Amino acid sequence: MCGFYDDSQKIKKGDYAKYQDKPIVIISATHIKENKTMDIVIEYLDTKEQETINIPYKTTGFGFVKTNIMGSEVVDGFECKPKQLDPNKPIMHYKTLIYVCEDQRCQKASKPTRVKELRQIVKELGLDKGKDRIKISRSLCQGACRFRQVMQINENTNSNGCATNNSVWLKHTHKLVDTDLKELFLLLKNDQPLDKFQKIEMQQCYQ
Ligand code: FES
Repeated sequence: MCGFYDDSQKIKKGDYAKYQDKPIVIISATHIKENKTMDIVIEYLDTKEQETINIPYKTTGFGFVKTNIMGSEVVDGFECKPKQLDPNKPIMHYKTLIYVCEDQRCQKASKPTRVKELRQIVKELGLDKGKDRIKISRSLCQGACRFRQVMQINENTNSNGCATNNSVWLKHTHKLVDTDLKELFLLLKNDQPLDKFQKIEMQQCYQ
């Protein structure tokens, strides 16, 4: 028993959406068995105000429209495929692509909401779009579990990426607090070396 955006997609915690045309994130979606309804707690992205909307079970729509993290409405049933490509939201472009390992051992050291938190910081810095876009993606095991939580940084050297910061693996990133992460993202934006951060040294096997 759930609320839905469309015929197949459930309203769930962590979703980006619009409610009555305003961009929001879903904070929680809780079933209320007694009266067969759901409490949907939302946070407005612009004001950070929260509100609880109570909707009947199995409701479709009810003022909720699923969007992707860039704020574009998505095709029914899709998590992020936009209905309309917006040239001002260059979803296909990134300057820096960061793979955050979320496989079992890294996940154990970290927490399930980590990627969302990283994306939120990127967004606050205005680096979620535009020519310096930093894209955060989840990955499975990168074969370096003892350095958990592992983060691999790739620079788009075909475009405006920085060769120095390309193919850098960072270790123990679950220990980085928000101020560290902001510093990391700004160093990447400005093409500066990541000396402060703990790197996994590559084996020199083929020299
Ligand atoms: S589980 Fe993350 S590197 Fe293996």
